[in-house]
Amino acid sequence: MKGAILDAIKDLIVENFGLEKWMDVLENAGLSRTDVFTVRDDVPDETVLEVIKSISETLNLSPQEVIDAFGEYWASVYTPKVYRPYYRGIRSAKELLLKMNEIHRKVTENIPNAHPPRFEYRWEGPNVLIMKYISPRGLVEVFMGVLKGVGKFFNTDLKIERVSPDEVRIEFME
Ligand code: HEM
Repeated sequence: MKGAILDAIKDLIVENFGLEKWMDVLENAGLSRTDVFTVRDDVPDETVLEVIKSISETLNLSPQEVIDAFGEYWASVYTPKVYRPYYRGIRSAKELLLKMNEIHRKVTENIPNAHPPRFEYRWEGPNVLIMKYISPRGLVEVFMGVLKGVGKFFNTDLKIERVSPDEVRIEFME
């Protein structure tokens, strides 16, 4: 997985709990206290999952709380800052979500081991979208966490509901 994911997780933890706690998280995950991950790195998926587990142990949060906090931070703080060009011309949560395949393809095209998620879309009505999440990683909870962050970033109320193992229904309350 791209190093950006761990870079974002680090920012989130440091901003909320301080650098020492982040170093504790790394150590508890079997990493070095001073490890740094950059947007260009390629990090094994297991390392990312170890770090998420370690955050939940070190900070006494449930895995779900960690995933929600990450998703929200990723979509409402980190990507608008670090991947700003991809937000150009996008004015709503709906517009961003419809560009997910294109954005993930572009962001990962130069990374040999990247396997970005893909999405299929089906409209149930003008403001009701079913998004099917396709990825061998099976991180549908992360997908839903990021969706909440998208709503927050655009200041839009989104009603998000899982309707099958890999499908989420999104109602845009505009
Ligand atoms: C401009 C905004 C975004 C950028 C730049 C971005 C970029 C990325 C990158 C680089 C990865 C790692 C891929 C890899 O290493 O294989 C990733 C993973 C992921 N992204 Fe995004 N993303 C964005 C928005 C979103 C949104 C809005 C969603 C959900 C609606 C989303 C869902 C996911 C999920 C679930 C993964 C985990 C990987 C997987 O399931 O296979 N992303 N994204």
